Amino acid sequence: MSLLLQSIESLKQYRSQISGDVGFVPTMGALHQGHGSLFTVARAQNVCVIASIFVNPAQFDDKNDLNAYPRTLHQDLEMAKNKGVDAVFLPTPEALYPEGYRFKLHEDGYSQTLCGADRPGHFDGVLTIVMKLLQLTKPHRAYFGEKDYQQFQLINDMAKDFFLECEIIGMPTVREHDGLAMSSRNQRLGIMARQKAALFPKILNSGLSPEAVKCALIQEGFQVDYVTDTKGRRYGAVRLGDDQGGMVRLIDNFPRVMSAL
Ligand code: PAF
Repeated sequence: MSLLLQSIESLKQYRSQISGDVGFVPTMGALHQGHGSLFTVARAQNVCVIASIFVNPAQFDDKNDLNAYPRTLHQDLEMAKNKGVDAVFLPTPEALYPEGYRFKLHEDGYSQTLCGADRPGHFDGVLTIVMKLLQLTKPHRAYFGEKDYQQFQLINDMAKDFFLECEIIGMPTVREHDGLAMSSRNQRLGIMARQKAALFPKILNSGLSPEAVKCALIQEGFQVDYVTDTKGRRYGAVRLGDDQGGMVRLIDNFPRVMSAL
């Protein structure tokens, strides 16, 4: 069992006793093999590995999405133990936001595009919580999955802009056998929607123009939030019905492919 740290005081006390390099993997739980790959690399590169599990209310623009976010603590702790995570930080919202949401980090450019355009305030919430967690865990390295590539870039830029002495490491997206990017949200897809979801990365990475990709996705029954080529990559976000009558949002990205003639 990894050590459970349920208060800020216990985390601080634990951290103060570690002298070697610390690797940190922040998560919102519902862990899958994508998180597993972050733990594996963090384990190999550091003396101590700390993970956090915290479903951060500030990054959800939609209350239903927050409430529906999968919570699988028992399995999560099992995976953390098996991957050699030394300690898991499990804070409460009250502990992490002692002033409510009075203070927040805001980025004025890139965070307003792509996922930020569809989810107002989302990246303020992400950057704020990541900054708080980095301040508390003081890691030498922090690990993020490249499925959320925009998030990874923003956190990397923030770390540089605020002179954080922490290396931000992006790890390649881990995919299911049919190509769907692993995501905690996949658990919410019903059987039919899960089958259809596999078309999303195939169509997104097909080499067609963004407009043609949008049309193909709509034809297959996806709601399309965006398909955009920028910064050398193709990014896409779509929505599909879940098994409770709601919608599940899926995102993905690929190094940019040349458009088909
Ligand atoms: O990618 C996530 O799981 C979250 O956005 C993060 C980085 C843990 C912040 O809550």
